[in-house]
Amino acid sequence: MPWAWFPPASSSRGGEPRLPPFRYDRAVVERTVHVDLGERSYSISIGVDILGEVGQEIRRRVEATRAMVVTVPPVGRRYGASVMRSLKSEGVKARRFDVPDGERTKNLQQVSRLYDSLLDASADRATAVVALGGGVVGDLTGFVAATLLRGLPFVQIPTTLLAMVDSSVGGKTGVNVARGKNLVGAFHQPRLVWMDVTTLKTLPPRELAAGMGELIKHGAIRDEAFFEWLEAELEGLMKLDPELLIHALERSCAIKADVVRQDERESGLRMILNFGHTLGHAVEALKRYRGILHGEAVAIGMAFAAERSETLGLSPKGTRDRLVTLLRRAGLPTELPAFPRRAYLQALRVDKKKREAKIRFVALRGIGRAVTVPLLPREIVPPTRAKGR
Ligand SMILES: NC(=O)c1ccc[n+]([C@@H]2O[C@H](COP(=O)([O-])OP(=O)(O)OC[C@H]3O[C@@H](n4cnc5c(N)ncnc54)[C@H](O)[C@@H]3O)[C@@H](O)[C@H]2O)c1
Ligand SMILES: [Zn+2]
Repeated sequence: MPWAWFPPASSSRGGEPRLPPFRYDRAVVERTVHVDLGERSYSISIGVDILGEVGQEIRRRVEATRAMVVTVPPVGRRYGASVMRSLKSEGVKARRFDVPDGERTKNLQQVSRLYDSLLDASADRATAVVALGGGVVGDLTGFVAATLLRGLPFVQIPTTLLAMVDSSVGGKTGVNVARGKNLVGAFHQPRLVWMDVTTLKTLPPRELAAGMGELIKHGAIRDEAFFEWLEAELEGLMKLDPELLIHALERSCAIKADVVRQDERESGLRMILNFGHTLGHAVEALKRYRGILHGEAVAIGMAFAAERSETLGLSPKGTRDRLVTLLRRAGLPTELPAFPRRAYLQALRVDKKKREAKIRFVALRGIGRAVTVPLLPREIVPPTRAKGR
């Protein structure tokens, strides 16, 4: 496996058209990001207090006459009425379906309940399947939309920062099974993504920080100018300044969408989105998914990967410190939990039968410049790491 080096988003090298350079224009308060995937293209709308307008867009762009709004109680209680009212005022027959809150809801039993409910409501191609909530609701609902009747139109209304910057962009849907997380799934692009930054006001602070980790990731792997802007504006963002948020979401989504556009099925470039995830997943597994949020584990993984990038001689010294400083300002952890080295090695062996299988480790050549490097687990976590840190 050769090393793969991906030039930054706004670089003009290579044949692909690239993102325009990052620019911050404070006056703008509503934005649209177009995700260009041929026939499966769609747009992401980002704005302030726009929840009540989603019905109109669903009717117009999806041509839906019916809608099933899937949500969890903490979100449905706060935002369900506004979405339902907006759909009904457009003449769309809407029903709300609540699933229990939490990661455990991403299972096949809930999928089956949703299938029944949709079939009972005579769902067809004119039925929009709408996810209102975080990544859990989005992944579950998206999988149902992908598979029922070989695909129904899917709409995402993400209400966590993580769902806005990550899970609602890219088309990956799926559920967990007893053998592991996200093992059953499908690619299914939404027809519309509708982000109202006002909903973030009720999000618990830890969840906000976790989402910020993935947002910082997008700057770190692909866009140094955006990363610099985050360094300047992080506190305002954490305070949910709407203009700052809209710009951050716009850029973050554009970066992810640009990567997905070039590699929808994850055969190369898309892997850079896994920056911080190799170690992050190991940390989550070792902690048995308890007491740590995904975004927190990814922050730890990014700090580790940035340090490893320096010790591998790939990135200039100071790259790690810059990233770690920003992650800490966002309230994220960056220290590797003290499990023995062999525990990390075991957790890293994705292919349990092939002990010597290489992993495409995502490293940095500097801020904004990700590379993938094929490494063995024992090269990712070299023996020196065992001494504590
Ligand atoms: N499909 C993808 O590409 C992709 C990418 C990243 C993560 N994911 C998946 O996303 C999931 C994690 O998503 P998440 O972090 O959004 O978790 P989540 O959906 O569980 O939401 C976190 C918590 O916040 C609550 N909540 C949501 N919005 C709220 C709001 N506006 N106000 C108050 N509370 C609110 C939820 O009820 C929940 O308790 C995981 O299952 C992960 O596998 C998928
Ligand atoms: Zn992630």
